[in-house]
Amino acid sequence: MSDPLTPVLTKRWLSPNSWRLSVYEQLEGYQGLRKALRGTPEQLVQLVKDAGLRGRGGAGFPTGLKWSFMPPNEDKPHYLVINADEGEPGTCKDIPLMMADPHSLIEGCVIASYAMRSHHCFIYVRGEALHCIRRLNSAVREAYDAGYLGKNILDSGFDLDITVHAGAGAYICGEETALLDSLEGRRGQPRLKPPFPAAAGLYAAPTTVNNVESIASVPYIVLGGSDWFRQMGREKSPGPKIYSISGHVERPGQYEAPLGTTLRELLELCGGMKDGIPLKFWTPGGSSTPMFTADHLDIPLDFEGAAEAGSMLGTTAVQVFNETVSVPWAVMKWTKFYEHESCGKCTPCREGTYWLAQILERMVDGRGTEEDIDTLLDVCDNILGRAFCALGDGAVSPITSGIQYFRDEFLALCESNKRELVGAQS
Ligand code: NAI
Repeated sequence: MSDPLTPVLTKRWLSPNSWRLSVYEQLEGYQGLRKALRGTPEQLVQLVKDAGLRGRGGAGFPTGLKWSFMPPNEDKPHYLVINADEGEPGTCKDIPLMMADPHSLIEGCVIASYAMRSHHCFIYVRGEALHCIRRLNSAVREAYDAGYLGKNILDSGFDLDITVHAGAGAYICGEETALLDSLEGRRGQPRLKPPFPAAAGLYAAPTTVNNVESIASVPYIVLGGSDWFRQMGREKSPGPKIYSISGHVERPGQYEAPLGTTLRELLELCGGMKDGIPLKFWTPGGSSTPMFTADHLDIPLDFEGAAEAGSMLGTTAVQVFNETVSVPWAVMKWTKFYEHESCGKCTPCREGTYWLAQILERMVDGRGTEEDIDTLLDVCDNILGRAFCALGDGAVSPITSGIQYFRDEFLALCESNKRELVGAQS
């Protein structure tokens, strides 16, 4: 493994005015674009495939493969849409990236659009992040003025416009097809897949939806090459990654490290557990990924490592909880989030998350019974794999994994209720 402290994506973040074009240009900015425009779109798609870049939004789909699904002809307009609707609980990597280094995303957008023959790129930003929308808009203006956007970019004959679009605060709009609906001006709800966006996406035209961090990685791959990129991380999950560490640690924040870094190593980077209070549970990639415990400190946090240990890498939002936190309480809080954010389109998710939240609230209030645990698992079973999109599966993860590792805590809540009921009857 390469030195986890060698920054790639975050290397400019601490430079004064890192978001300004002049600073970006001084630090190798737009050099990747100049190089990319000297090659062909096909060469770029192949390069990203060779680098093994996988989607950083959570699912880890191979980025180069996704690009290759775009049709080679231009019968219809092609679109690149950047999913910057970062909303997964605990996830806070894309917004800091866009705040500190917006031009790396813009440069990545131009290169990716050139590779996919797209002449219009939309960056769909979470509506609550007004500060980020302002920063991106001003960086886009700088890029137009300098000839990195607009007509005949750097005399290459390639044209590209970027539109920064503000979402309206719905978690579901981070699901790529709901995002496309929202961008078209409709209520954001997931579409049936297939067809995948490359076949029928924005305005039913060929579209690729990529995450911010994925696209911001592209200029580095163009400059450094696929072999350089593959030196970091693991064979099937290469490259650097921004881990968002939150919760009971000494120094929460964004930590860049190669894919495959373990929680033990990440804890060293962020100063260890806060006040030395021991770790109890943690999520590898946001609340939608099944939780881990103190027994999972040495699991390599890459797509394979997390999956083999029974979870998912997700967004690498590492939320760390110490021994003072009640698992049923945390699970109840997450479940209420999913209940609130369920878009209502499909019955398992709309009804299921409602009932899960009701039962968990009852348990945490000390009004639950032992049967509630089985009912919870039964409702989860009726959501998992049966909901229209990943929101339903995500809602189930904290509950099933929480009960798997901490069943005794759920039982203890019911036991105390049983004692009170018996006491009241006698
Ligand atoms: P997915 O696995 O269905 O798709 C991932 C990407 O690959 C999509 O762009 C999809 O169009 C493409 N794809 C998959 N199979 C394809 C095929 N056969 N042909 C063409 N394209 C194909 O996952 P999904 O539902 O897009 O995302 C789920 C993930 O999102 C979860 O793993 C979760 O970690 C993450 N997530 C991230 C959030 C954030 O704030 N970043 C919020 C909530 C969830």
